[in-house]
Amino acid sequence: MQYNFPVTRTTHPKPRYEDESSLGFCHYFTDHMFIMDYDEGQGWHDGRVVPYEPLRIDPASCVLHYAQMMFEGMKAYLRPDGRLQLFRPDMNAKRVANTCERMVIPVVSEELLIAGIKAVLAEDADWMPKSAGTSMYIRPFIFGNEISFSALPAKHYTFVIILAPCGSYYGGASGTLQTSRIYVQDKYIRSARGGTGYAKVGGNYGGAMRASEDAKKYNCKDVLWLDAQEHKYVEEVGTCNAFFRINDEVITAPLDGGTILPGVTRDSVLDLLRHWGEKVSERRLPIADVLEASRNGTLQEAFASGTAAVISPIGCLNVKGEDFPVADGEVGELSKKLYKTLYGIQTGAVEDFMGWTYPLDICVK
Ligand SMILES: Cc1ncc(COP(=O)(O)O)c(C=O)c1O
Repeated sequence: MQYNFPVTRTTHPKPRYEDESSLGFCHYFTDHMFIMDYDEGQGWHDGRVVPYEPLRIDPASCVLHYAQMMFEGMKAYLRPDGRLQLFRPDMNAKRVANTCERMVIPVVSEELLIAGIKAVLAEDADWMPKSAGTSMYIRPFIFGNEISFSALPAKHYTFVIILAPCGSYYGGASGTLQTSRIYVQDKYIRSARGGTGYAKVGGNYGGAMRASEDAKKYNCKDVLWLDAQEHKYVEEVGTCNAFFRINDEVITAPLDGGTILPGVTRDSVLDLLRHWGEKVSERRLPIADVLEASRNGTLQEAFASGTAAVISPIGCLNVKGEDFPVADGEVGELSKKLYKTLYGIQTGAVEDFMGWTYPLDICVK
């Protein structure tokens, strides 16, 4: 389907960021947003680009009470030729479909998702930062928007896409990697079998905040989640997937339990490692094995993967106050190679030998 969304331009452009090196992660949002409505019997309709502004929501709107919503997180990157490109948007679209199905939200198709992103990006392309380590974060989200206190799927939904120019997740403008300390969470759980762990829904994140906050007491940036049933196997790190390299085997948790978010970066890391001939396993990994590997010196590397951080190396795990270092606590060689290759492909600095990029007809001057 050919989409042609009407555009209402802002008459009050926002003040721009002054220094790309201090952009941070999503502190600024661009001048416009994409918005579209869904009504029962009518389907998705009236997609449009409008000035970025607060949404008016009735206090009795169902999303504020029962959290029937979903979101996505992806990025647009600036290529050396000045064009913008997306990275594997088909995988985000697949996750949108799976999340919508789980949350009984009417699905937004891949075609519609990309058309909406293009429409708002075309309007705000001049917000694109240009320095190394930067990108434009894209946040599509859908919520049930109906005045109703019955805990039933809504009949009306709102679909919005907003954009945020972002700096390096690590603070440094050049995207230099740094290791972080991670707390091994054995009290709270993120998701159980049959729950919503594989879906990108706000409730997963709200429910995780107690644990992330408690991790700060141990000077840790975030938590390593263990499985809900036995508190025995490693699952994810905060808002990222987790990888451990032990005895030359790179291990990440499998997706089959439905408790882990199927990360686009996770899938890309697995493909790259296999392409490079590394030994890779998607298998259940007991936390006891990771801690033993730390003790006996066979834990070579650990890192988290995600759209925001790309690759986030872990330098130390903390269990109830006891530190378990990952190798020498420095950034590992594989983490560096993965970051360089992934971010390189995403920005067009490295040839896309995996066929992952999705160049857009949008140029930045
Ligand atoms: C819980 C969780 N796991 C993993 C990821 C990584 O997914 P992706 O690589 O698609 O960003 C994210 C980020 O969205 C997340 O929130």
